[in-house]
Amino acid sequence: MTILVTGGAGYIGSHCCVTFLEAGHDVVVLDNLSNSNAESLKRVETITGRSVLLEQADIRDQAAIEAVLSRHNCTAVIHFAGLKAVGESTENPLSYYENNVVGTHRLLSAMAKTGVHDLIFSSSATVYGEPQRLPLTEDHPLAPTNPYGRTKLMVEDMLRDVAASDPRWRIGMLRYFNPVGAHSSGLIGEDPLGVPNNLMPYIAQVAGGRLDKLNVFGNDYDTRDGTGVRDYIHVVDLAEGHLRAYEALGRLEASQNSFAVNLGTGNGHSVLEMVKEFERASNRQVPYSIAARRSGDVAECYADTQMATDFLSWQASKDLRDMCADTWKWVVKNPKGYQL
Ligand code: NAD
Ligand code: UD1
Repeated sequence: MTILVTGGAGYIGSHCCVTFLEAGHDVVVLDNLSNSNAESLKRVETITGRSVLLEQADIRDQAAIEAVLSRHNCTAVIHFAGLKAVGESTENPLSYYENNVVGTHRLLSAMAKTGVHDLIFSSSATVYGEPQRLPLTEDHPLAPTNPYGRTKLMVEDMLRDVAASDPRWRIGMLRYFNPVGAHSSGLIGEDPLGVPNNLMPYIAQVAGGRLDKLNVFGNDYDTRDGTGVRDYIHVVDLAEGHLRAYEALGRLEASQNSFAVNLGTGNGHSVLEMVKEFERASNRQVPYSIAARRSGDVAECYADTQMATDFLSWQASKDLRDMCADTWKWVVKNPKGYQL
C-alpha cells in the first residue's frame, strides 16, 4: 500500500512522511521543489531508516501524476503541494489559482483516471475568515478574506462536489491552525526562503541572531495583553492528525464520504507569550518593538477540537514549550536551513 505525498519535501509534508513511514506505510513524494530542498527527504530517511522516493514533478502536469500513481501502485494521496503565502497571493493571485486550484483539479483528474479515490487535503483555518464566534467550530461560516484563503475554500468545494458525485471517493479535509515546531531530532524543520512572514520562524531567526528584532504587529487588540492570539500546533502532532485522518477514511460510508475537521490545540497564545516562551527555550533574548497592526490580521483565532477528538480520536499532545524547544533545536543544528 503506497501513499503518494504531494509536496512531501516541504515543511509539513516531510514531517508527515516520517509519521507514515514509522506507522509502516510506503511513501512516494511528488514535489517540484519550488519551495523545498530534496535534502529534507534524505533527513526523513535518516530519521526513519526507510527509503523515500522523490518524483520531481508538478501537480499541474496531469500525465506526470498519472504515471507516478500507476508506476508505484498508489492507493491514496496526501495532498500538501501548493503555495501558501497570504501577502504573495494578493500580489500574484493567478499563480495561486493555478497552483492550488488548477493543480488540485489535475491531481483529482489523474486520480479518477487511475482509480485512486482516497485523499487527504491540507486546508487551513483561513477558510473561516474573520471569526464570528470562538472557538471556531467546523460549521462556522466560510468566508476567507484573501486570494490564498479563497483557493483553499475553492478546493474544499471542489472536493465536496467530487465526493458527492461518486461514492467511491473518500476525502478528508484538514483545517490547520498555526503549525510550528520541528521534529525532536532537529533534523527536519521549517526552512522559509528569505525573511519569514510567520511569527515562529521570525522569532527563531531573531533568537539565532539572523534578524535584529521582532516587529510585534499591534498591541491594542482586545486580547489579554493586546497582541494577537493564535492556536499554535506542533507539526509532529499535526502529522499524527494526518495518520488518524487517513485511518478514518476507511470508516467513511458511501452516503457521507467526505469530512472537514480542525487540527489545532484549542488553546490560544499571544505574540508576547510566544516571545517569552522562546526566550526560555533558547536562553537567548528576543528583542522586539511594537509596530502597526498588519492588515488582514484578526485579534484571536483558535480551534474547537471536539470533532477531531470524537471523529479522529486525536488530540494534540505537545505544548508551547515543546514547540519552542524543538524549533530552537532545529535552528541551532541548521543555521542555514537545508543549505549545506
Ligand atoms: P511548504 O511550502 O513547505 O510545502 C509545500 C510543498 O509543495 C513544497 O515542497 C513545494 O515545493 C511543493 N509545491 C508547491 N507547488 C507545487 C506544484 N505546483 N507541484 C508540485 N509541488 C509543489 O508548505 P507547508 O507549510 O508544508 O504547507 C503544506 C500545505 O499545508 C500547503 O498546502 C499549505 O497551504 C497548507 N497549510 C500550511 C500552513 C502553514 O502554516 N504552514 C497552514 C495551513 C495550511
Ligand atoms: C498566517 C496567515 C494565514 C495562514 C497562517 C499559516 C495572514 C494574514 N494569515 O496566519 O492565512 O494560514 O499564517 O500559519 O498572513 N506577528 C507579529 N510579527 C511578525 C509576524 C507575526 O507580530 O513578524 C503576529 C501576527 O500579527 C499574529 C501572530 O503573530 O498575531 C501570528 O502570525 P502568523 O504566524 O503570520 O500567522 P497568522 O497571522 O495567524
